[in-house]
Amino acid sequence: MSKEIVCSGIRPTGNLHLGNYFGALRNFIKMQDEYNCYFFIADYHSLTTHPTPENLYNNARQILVQYLACGLDPEKSTIYLQSDLPETIELYLFLNMNAYLGELERVTSFKDKVRQQPNNVNAGLLTYPTLMAADILIHKAAKVPVGKDQEQHLEMTRTFAGRFNNMYKCEVFPMPQAFNFGGDLVKIPGLDGSGKMGKSEGEGNALFLTDEPNVIKKKIMRAKTDNGPEQMNQQKPVEIENLFTLLKVVSKPDTVEYFDDLYNRCQIRYGDLKKQLVEDMNLFIDPIRERIKAIDSDEKSLQRIMDMGKEKAHESARRTIDEVRHVIGFRN
Ligand code: TYM
Repeated sequence: MSKEIVCSGIRPTGNLHLGNYFGALRNFIKMQDEYNCYFFIADYHSLTTHPTPENLYNNARQILVQYLACGLDPEKSTIYLQSDLPETIELYLFLNMNAYLGELERVTSFKDKVRQQPNNVNAGLLTYPTLMAADILIHKAAKVPVGKDQEQHLEMTRTFAGRFNNMYKCEVFPMPQAFNFGGDLVKIPGLDGSGKMGKSEGEGNALFLTDEPNVIKKKIMRAKTDNGPEQMNQQKPVEIENLFTLLKVVSKPDTVEYFDDLYNRCQIRYGDLKKQLVEDMNLFIDPIRERIKAIDSDEKSLQRIMDMGKEKAHESARRTIDEVRHVIGFRN
């Protein structure tokens, strides 16, 4: 039986952080053996914020290095650059013909961007979900490993796929599902006590896979806390819950239990909790950071991996786009 198809990507807008890792990359790595995987670097998507040519290239290269350092294997998965696959853009165009202004304007990530960058509300931002749907549907992927923030985009992908199938009375596209091995989709919080960890949420909010130990220590020790619990078993305020969430992803379960118990008995010292988190975070990030440094200098292998991925991705994309063109009525 042929393996189920998986596809996902990450935008090259800076180094990868813990949210990218635990929301997406960890699943990419785990899925490689069981599934037919397509993992790409979403450089077209990063154009919505107008990077310089140097930044565009260097950031994309850096994501490839970080994919490999985390354990993506180019012999098992197809790893490629989104911009190496022009078929995606053709499908994006076709899907845009049946994507409506009202539904695109209602997407949460679009509304956020309108608030964040009112002077750059470009059409690329508006049609971000159709490009994402094209990325996924070009390989007819069934599963899409992503973090919680991408849930709505996956819903849109199913809407566009279903609409195309209905319109042309065909079954060209599957209905892709967001996927996480642990069950529910993940949201890794930032260190500033507010929302999710992210590249654009301000300095000190995110822990990057490239951060040196002293930087990690500084960021964690500065993370927001409160004056401590006053009642036994009281609910944790959001900034404390966030620290526990970070502890859960990098520490052993009995460590989490130990601090949870201290909290519930109003005996917790946040300084101790943070020190433990620094130690466990460094144990997690150290080997990845060192592999990043080692892989970074091997220009020849990086080029070979990109070429190989491009070819494999192209084969799959070509098949889909030929079928789509035929269904739409292009007979050249
Ligand atoms: P991007 O680059 O913002 O994020 C990449 C992946 O990391 C996840 N992520 C998080 N997960 C949990 N907690 C967080 N704090 C956190 N921050 C980021 C995201 O959910 C995502 O899975 N639109 C995508 C890129 C993309 C894509 C696609 C993904 C383009 N085409 C097709 C899947 C399929 C994005 O902006 O991700």
